[in-house]
Amino acid sequence: MSKIVITGGAGFIGSHIAEKLAKEGHEIVIVDNLDDYYSIELKKKNIDIVLNSGDATFVNSDVTDLNKMQEIIDGTVDYVYHEAAQAGVRISVENPFKPNDINVLGTLNVLQASMDADVRKVINASSSSVYGKVQYLPFDEQHPTQPVSPYGVSKLAAEQYCRVFYEVYGLPTTSLRYFTVYGPRMRPDLAISIFTRKMLANEPITVFGDGEQTRDFTYIDDVVEANQRLLGNSRTDGRVLNIGSGNRISVNDLIENLRSITDSDSEVNYTGKQKGDAENTLADISLSKKLLGYEPSVDIRCGLMNYMKQIKKDFRC
Ligand SMILES: NC(=O)c1ccc[n+]([C@@H]2O[C@H](COP(=O)([O-])OP(=O)(O)OC[C@H]3O[C@@H](n4cnc5c(N)ncnc54)[C@H](O)[C@@H]3O)[C@@H](O)[C@H]2O)c1
Repeated sequence: MSKIVITGGAGFIGSHIAEKLAKEGHEIVIVDNLDDYYSIELKKKNIDIVLNSGDATFVNSDVTDLNKMQEIIDGTVDYVYHEAAQAGVRISVENPFKPNDINVLGTLNVLQASMDADVRKVINASSSSVYGKVQYLPFDEQHPTQPVSPYGVSKLAAEQYCRVFYEVYGLPTTSLRYFTVYGPRMRPDLAISIFTRKMLANEPITVFGDGEQTRDFTYIDDVVEANQRLLGNSRTDGRVLNIGSGNRISVNDLIENLRSITDSDSEVNYTGKQKGDAENTLADISLSKKLLGYEPSVDIRCGLMNYMKQIKKDFRC
């Protein structure tokens, strides 16, 4: 069993990875500064779930503090999952400095500390936002990267640092480009969260654009599985891999799926497109299949039903 540091482990994806690996018997250290971008109460609940899943501890710390990262990522640590970030495209359009500080400097600190501690591998959470302007679909990893938001730029810089730390200093790193992840405990600022809550309350929904923009939505369990498969996998060192479902649906179709699951009467209002939003995303997952044996197993309908089960339990009008 390994000792594994998970930055951002109080968040949506990090807490799922931490929970799964704690249950498998690994020693888990969650590092998170409980940033107030969304409810700190939700993050504390996520931490409790992980702490109750096995040998796990929580350290309240900030990835922008190199000394702290060097204290935490010491010679006893085998692997680092780096999930901490200022996520979200729209907030990055409002204030590009915070995502730059956390996502770029924070990643550099985690890499430096990991290199000093001689960790076996750093697995970095990247994003489909690095692709930006679509030249062709599906996106394979060779598709040009022209982000259309400050968030996308920050994630691209972070994954380039990961590649360079491998090529220049020999630190094994892999960046996973996640495509819109959803499922239980998902971030409240993501479209599926917002739409679902509004639908359960029969309140109107606002769609930015005409709703014909498409997204590859990836269920959380598939993302966790991909992350877990990277433990001890050296074929992926220095590489970036797409982690998506390999399918896409339009926002309008997503809403119709949610409507049929919730039986909601919510009206849909269309308004102007948001700056920084990608038009379409779709992952080519052949490389992850080949190098990781990654095989997404939860389709959108099933994933939304699973998510709905959690939301209905927690939902209060
Ligand atoms: N959710 C998605 O659809 C998606 C898609 C692509 C990429 N990603 C990436 O996956 C990772 C996890 O995303 P998520 O959706 O779970 O987001 P999240 O906001 O739920 O989790 C991020 C966590 O990082 C923590 N954090 C923020 N700043 C920090 C700092 N300075 N020091 C320490 N911790 C800090 C937050 O408190 C939070 O708990 C991020 O790197 C994100 O960019 C997510």
